[in-house]
Amino acid sequence: MGSNVYVTRKIPTESILILEAVCDVVDVNPHDRALTREEFLHQVQGRDGLLCLLTETIDDEALDASAGIKGVANYAVGYNNINVLAATRRGIPVSNTPGVLTDTTADLAWGLMLTIARRIAESDRFVREGKFRGWDPLMFLGTDISGKPLGIVGGGRIGTATAKRAGGFNMRILYTSRNRYDDIESIGAEYHSLDVLLRESDYVSVHTPLTLETTHLIGERELDLMKPTAFLINTSRGPVVHEAALVQALKENRIAGAGLDVFEREPELEPGLTSLDNVVIVPHIGSASTATRTAMGNMAAANLIAMIRGEDPPNCINPEYVKHR
Ligand code: DGY
Repeated sequence: MGSNVYVTRKIPTESILILEAVCDVVDVNPHDRALTREEFLHQVQGRDGLLCLLTETIDDEALDASAGIKGVANYAVGYNNINVLAATRRGIPVSNTPGVLTDTTADLAWGLMLTIARRIAESDRFVREGKFRGWDPLMFLGTDISGKPLGIVGGGRIGTATAKRAGGFNMRILYTSRNRYDDIESIGAEYHSLDVLLRESDYVSVHTPLTLETTHLIGERELDLMKPTAFLINTSRGPVVHEAALVQALKENRIAGAGLDVFEREPELEPGLTSLDNVVIVPHIGSASTATRTAMGNMAAANLIAMIRGEDPPNCINPEYVKHR
């Protein structure tokens, strides 16, 4: 079909093979790093399709550089890196990878919750440093999770999956969201305002997409509404939490701790974050299981193939693009 696509970072081989079975040219960024903006703008020229990551900004400039492109497939469920309106105005479909990473990301939210509450990372460092001298009744005392209230910010797929995992922990579940969701309410989750949720929860887990409205949704005021014994978990997008305000709150023990998979200016971290013991930090690995990253790649590849064929991608986020063709 004479198609030529660009993949902005190495992704699982299986997904590349899916593309290669259909496209004439599949070029993949050969480096073990993200492309510089300059490299990216150069590489997208003359392509029929683009498979990109959350680390690439797809804005007017990028869409102008890739003039003639038939579709943009994001290798992520979140698509705050893409100016969707700009793509729609140009009649370009955009797709994401919903569903396939829900369980894996919810698992990580729980991993962070358990790790920070039970001081697992801190204890691991202690043992590795040769400091373990035998069992001690007062060593690394943490906080229980069972029976405590869990607040879910964002009642969509991942928030709901995280809430469902609380079933074995006998927790009261509160949630807040722009819309109400039957699925999370079917397990007894109570719908509340953000303020009530923050005041009443011992664990607050954030699962909202990043939009203008959710940028800094959790700032100094919101952190102050939380109990000093409460923990904040973020596996959504860094800018949903005001990172400087969070570091300050953690330093002053105004909340008990945090588990963070995402950061405001990835890969940069807010100064002071890494010297705190009451935070667990991991490098945006919410969806990072072999099976899930492969499923995401295969889904992105299927979306891209549909788009270069001039069909609607199965996971289109801007179906109104057709009006602008
Ligand atoms: C996403 O898909 O939005 C994640 O942040 C990466 O899995």
